[in-house]
Amino acid sequence: MKKLTVLSIIAASLLLTGCGDSSTGSAAKASHETAPVAHEAAAPAAAEKAMKCGEGKCGGDKKSAATEAKEAAVVAVKKATEAVTEKAKEVKAQATAKVEEVKAKATEAVDSAKAAVASVVASATGSDGKALFAKCAGCHGADGKTAALGKSAVIAGQAAADLETKIAGYKAGTLNTKGMGALMKGQVAGLSDADVKAVASYISGL
Ligand code: HEC
Repeated sequence: MKKLTVLSIIAASLLLTGCGDSSTGSAAKASHETAPVAHEAAAPAAAEKAMKCGEGKCGGDKKSAATEAKEAAVVAVKKATEAVTEKAKEVKAQATAKVEEVKAKATEAVDSAKAAVASVVASATGSDGKALFAKCAGCHGADGKTAALGKSAVIAGQAAADLETKIAGYKAGTLNTKGMGALMKGQVAGLSDADVKAVASYISGL
């Protein structure tokens, strides 16, 4: 009976003061019930810690988990930075390509404007035999000395009047020396009388 009383006193004092780190979950719960106000905050925390310690998850392990999280965050930030850098490079490359494209188009536009001006000038000042011959050079040669498609006579140096007559003949569809008159008709169909004169005189001078 005496022993029991001593034990109860020990037990009671344990319940009243037993909210320390060494408390088990049930002790913490019991002390919580005994002194609700004093232990309201401490008891669940102690219980949680006791449970975690029981599973071997307290102390150093908590630290390493924090370190792991930090490392993961560093890796994530590094990856995000890399991704952003990569994207920036890509966008820059695309922008550069776009600028090149615009430049090329602008150059093209300037060239065609120049060509348009040249043709306006040419038609205002009369036909330009040399310019007209550029279209013929592909077959007849830049010097007019090539047998076009291996068929035609050499046209360079022929008399201007003869050349005019021949060109006019092709234009009218009446000349067909080597069976390719229709082809030549297509070549000279767009030439005005002034053009025929100008190109014939130019070829004659070659
Ligand atoms: C696609 C090739 C080609 C082009 C381009 C071409 N020719 Fe010809 N040309 C020929 C051929 C082929 C003949 C021969 C046609 C035939 O059968 O009469 C010929 C014949 C001629 C002849 C007659 C030559 C001769 O003495 O019998 C003249 C002149 C001539 N071409 C002028 C021109 C002029 C000017 C142009 C440019 C406006 C021109 N050609 C463009 C292929 C061409």
